[in-house]
Amino acid sequence: MNSDTKDYSYEIKRLDPEEHTEVFKLFNGEAGVIEDYVRVGPKGYWFPLGFAELAPKIYNMEVRTDDVWVMSFPKSGTTWIQELVWQVENNFDYAKAENISLLERFTFIEGAMLFIGKKAQTVLQRNEKAKGFLDLLSMSFDQVMSSMPSPRFFKSHLPLSLLPPALLDSCRVVHVARDPRDVAVSFYHHYQFFISTGFTGSFKQFWNLFIDNKIDWTPYFENVKESWRMRDHPNMLFLFYEDALRDLPSTVKSVAAFLGKAVTEEQISRLCDHLAFDNFKKNKSVNFEVFRGMDLTSKEGTFMRKGKAGGWREYFDEEMLQQAQRWMEHNLRDTDLTFPSL
Ligand code: A3P
Repeated sequence: MNSDTKDYSYEIKRLDPEEHTEVFKLFNGEAGVIEDYVRVGPKGYWFPLGFAELAPKIYNMEVRTDDVWVMSFPKSGTTWIQELVWQVENNFDYAKAENISLLERFTFIEGAMLFIGKKAQTVLQRNEKAKGFLDLLSMSFDQVMSSMPSPRFFKSHLPLSLLPPALLDSCRVVHVARDPRDVAVSFYHHYQFFISTGFTGSFKQFWNLFIDNKIDWTPYFENVKESWRMRDHPNMLFLFYEDALRDLPSTVKSVAAFLGKAVTEEQISRLCDHLAFDNFKKNKSVNFEVFRGMDLTSKEGTFMRKGKAGGWREYFDEEMLQQAQRWMEHNLRDTDLTFPSL
């Protein structure tokens, strides 16, 4: 299947039905039941079918020089770094941040792919309070692009190759990466937490899908390595979740220097307090508790779950340890990327 829009050369291939059945027997949410999936481009990035329509629009979108992007593979600390970046760029406007949720302050560029067609209808039938959020995600791409005041803030889990080619030469991009084993554990909980995804299998089954590149946005390493390769570009700041956990003030200073903002020790200290996990978890503007009232999430669990590094050790048996080691060695052999946790 090829996108019908000009200027998009990546092949978009639909998943064959047998593979779909095999993967989605472990899901009970709407995701696998009423949604088709695609693999995009030579690296085979895996997405819900809704991405096919968005892909050329995103790739060809106009970039403004004062745009600010926060990129990551999902569950790498994106929300945390988004709030950090937004606060530094907006001169620590805590009052504004309290009144406007992070969902509105950043445009999730590919977010609309998650709730389209029958899936959106099912979500709305369950609870019509989700309408505002679905409208926010699915607002026509052109409308979002034309009406947004500068500076625009974008969040994306897409790899650089699927974003506008002029992105890095035009505006500032922050990428945050995290040890993939912790990412997998966090994503597993995310897939249970969000009702429409509804993963029913074990962590081991999820892990196997994850390293087999059959989970949204995978392959993990291809995504991270695309940004890592560009880490010395003056418009790219590459961060690690583990570094931010270990020394948040240094991460704030790096972001401030990157964004060209002078910050005082007092401002840094207040921001670190604002971003501390226990405070962040309670912060309604960022903690996604709003989804609970829309029946988008399960009763148990929270988006802000543990906020730690190395928790994966409790989830891996001996076989998975070995598998993880082989998988990581294989994917890291052609790069000097190393994770602070290794
Ligand atoms: P865990 O599930 O391991 O707790 P994303 O925003 O990319 O979806 O990432 C979510 C992960 O970042 C979750 O990891 C979440 O708890 C963690 N996180 C969010 N805010 C944090 C904070 N202030 N400090 C540390 N970790 C945070």
